[in-house]
Amino acid sequence: MKWLTSLTIAIGLACAPAGAQLTNTAPVAAQSNAAHQAQRDAFVSDLLRKMTTDEKIGQLRLISVGTDNPKHVIREMIRDGQVGAIFNTVTRQDIRAMQDQVMELSRLKIPLFFAYDVVHGHRTIFPIALELASSWDMNNIAKSARVSAYEATEDGLNMTWAPMVDITRDPRWGRVSEGFGEDTWLTSQIARVVVKAFQGEAPTDRHSLMTSVKHFALYGAVEGGRDYNTVDMSPQRMFQDYLPPYKAAIDAGSGGVMVALNSINGVPATANRWLLKELLRDQWKFQGITITDHGAIKELMKHGVASDPRDASRIALKSGIAMSMSDEYFVKYLPELVKSGAITVQELDEACRQVLNVKYDMGLFADPYRMLGAASSDPVDTNAESRLHRAEARDVAKRSLVLLKNRLNILPLKKSGVIAVVGPLADSKRDTMGSWSAAGLARQTVTVYRGIRTAVGNDATVFYAKGANVSNHKGIIDFLNQYEDAVQVDPRSPQAMIDEAVAVAKKSDVVVAVVGEAAGMAHEASSRSNIDLPQSQRDLIAALKATGKPLVLVLMNGRPLALVREDQQADALLETWFSGTEGGNAIADVLFGDYNPSGKLPMSFPRSVGQIPIYYNHLPSGRPYTPENPGKYTSHYYDEANGPLYPFGYGLSYTTFSVSDVSMSSPLMKRNGSVNASVTVTNTGKRAGETVVQLYLHDVVASISRPVKELRGYEKVMLQPGESRVISFTITEDDLKFYNAQMQQVVEPGKFEVFIGLDSQRVKQQSFTLL
Ligand code: NOJ
Repeated sequence: MKWLTSLTIAIGLACAPAGAQLTNTAPVAAQSNAAHQAQRDAFVSDLLRKMTTDEKIGQLRLISVGTDNPKHVIREMIRDGQVGAIFNTVTRQDIRAMQDQVMELSRLKIPLFFAYDVVHGHRTIFPIALELASSWDMNNIAKSARVSAYEATEDGLNMTWAPMVDITRDPRWGRVSEGFGEDTWLTSQIARVVVKAFQGEAPTDRHSLMTSVKHFALYGAVEGGRDYNTVDMSPQRMFQDYLPPYKAAIDAGSGGVMVALNSINGVPATANRWLLKELLRDQWKFQGITITDHGAIKELMKHGVASDPRDASRIALKSGIAMSMSDEYFVKYLPELVKSGAITVQELDEACRQVLNVKYDMGLFADPYRMLGAASSDPVDTNAESRLHRAEARDVAKRSLVLLKNRLNILPLKKSGVIAVVGPLADSKRDTMGSWSAAGLARQTVTVYRGIRTAVGNDATVFYAKGANVSNHKGIIDFLNQYEDAVQVDPRSPQAMIDEAVAVAKKSDVVVAVVGEAAGMAHEASSRSNIDLPQSQRDLIAALKATGKPLVLVLMNGRPLALVREDQQADALLETWFSGTEGGNAIADVLFGDYNPSGKLPMSFPRSVGQIPIYYNHLPSGRPYTPENPGKYTSHYYDEANGPLYPFGYGLSYTTFSVSDVSMSSPLMKRNGSVNASVTVTNTGKRAGETVVQLYLHDVVASISRPVKELRGYEKVMLQPGESRVISFTITEDDLKFYNAQMQQVVEPGKFEVFIGLDSQRVKQQSFTLL
């Protein structure tokens, strides 16, 4: 695997508990990548020779500890060699107990690996992925993944179901919260950085957490934004826009790939030989492990491509699935399939080899207790404060917030006077963490109300009123509370809650209303057909607005929302997504100007749900709409303003910046050459601040239509008041490549437009010609 290149494996058996007899002990040495692979292959081949068919099949099973599989049942499976890996177990004690069972009870003592959804934090919860992307700051993003890997591996975990790099252009899909937005190029950069940050220098590092990039492939394009729905896509769009981030993660060395639940042009990913074999293995040379998503083999019958469980198991394995998550099909049906020859021993061995390979790479054969150490070193309190990384989480979060509006510079607020903090999310710890909050604890989370109180201390008076429930819709609340008590409903009448908030607002100098979505509204299976704020919160905002007090809306949400009305009502709008454990402190840092906001949107915000899909890098139309000369027969909605409310790349600062015209190093670019495009950016305001200078390109005439703009570079730059800096981008042929109608990756000569600006719409323009 790629990330083994400068490998120094320094694992001994020193930390294995006394008495742990390892029958399968891998060699330990400083090795080159090739030497490591040769030794691994020899070791795994030898082990495969010792394994029975049932033991091999057992390795292909990944199970979740829970009500379906209680611990005593898992113990029996371990004894019988019926399980290869576990997920949803997150303490060293629990993990050690299972590994002990392997060592004590199983014949071959093949260690288990342990996986978990460490998506945006483990014990310390960092901002959700969409928010991390809003920082446009790779160090910031890497820091969140490094800390998460550290915490997860301190708890004994080996693998994470991350990063999710599905390109998302439809905010109705609740899982846009888990991805890095609509842009292929930006998401690919992040994919690379996150994989390297999670995995570290070498998989055998004590704090290396193997990634399993997901959801392979194209899950972000489910029709209508309805979760689990089908995906139908042209090859050009697939290869140009949707596949590159997975490829980037794989090229960065991701040890695992999680296969998507959706179908692609009619073939479910889990049954998609082209996807899993031809593309992933043959073309992309992926050497790691393919794991299904939850229950995906069973779902092949519902997809209508398998007639029964035996058929589903056969198709999945033959298509390139190695490990099944959370279903018993492989264990039940593969023995007979192998016996009858429907699955060959070689096919079974290939799948089993993938599991054993990653265990080898994780260093588990060298020491099954590698992530655990001795029991005496276990933390006394798994949830101890001292195990959190609050400073890092606060720092990452504050850099990821996006200021959408700031009329008359109402922000930053003063730490004096009287501040009303209202809204259903103002003091909700659970929601501040966001969905997929791993082993994070709500009680350790700082809400906006708490953050504001701490920030002002005794210098200001802070009043709180909830003002509204997240929604007054019983069906929605029941949905959110279906499996856990996620949303607390205040039993008072909506009017009584609003009255209380209005009374508080009237006593205050400024109102900070924290509104948006409960964490569960932007999650797996949480698709929405309407992306407005819920009516209960709209009513609250209208009542607050009527008080005439300055109104700051702090938005908490996991998707772009339709905010036309709120944009008109609010004096200031701060997009805070779901900011995690230190969310409230980070938000207070920005509200009071202790940090000058610098985030930029990684997804366009539509004006209304009817505009979806709306993304900045769309293809041109033969009848484009131009605001100066709208025309009737042009591509637009006649009942809606054209374009997004807030474009991709948009975000304000407490200072202002100017961008000069673009200057090109040359009007011509030679084949295999390069040109430079540069601008001078000046901080024209009175505060130091950061902004993101963005480079977009457009291939004006090509053999197929090319997007009106595509991001190809950016630089986040900090400028003191009055300071100017020249920002220069080098453009090479790599930036100009695309898939033509014959699916060849080409660069075609001709004119290219160059746009540089501080968002995707307000840009300065130049051009060059590729000879
Ligand atoms: C289903 C989700 O689609 C996937 O993203 C997640 O990693 C698994 N469940 C495991 O929790």
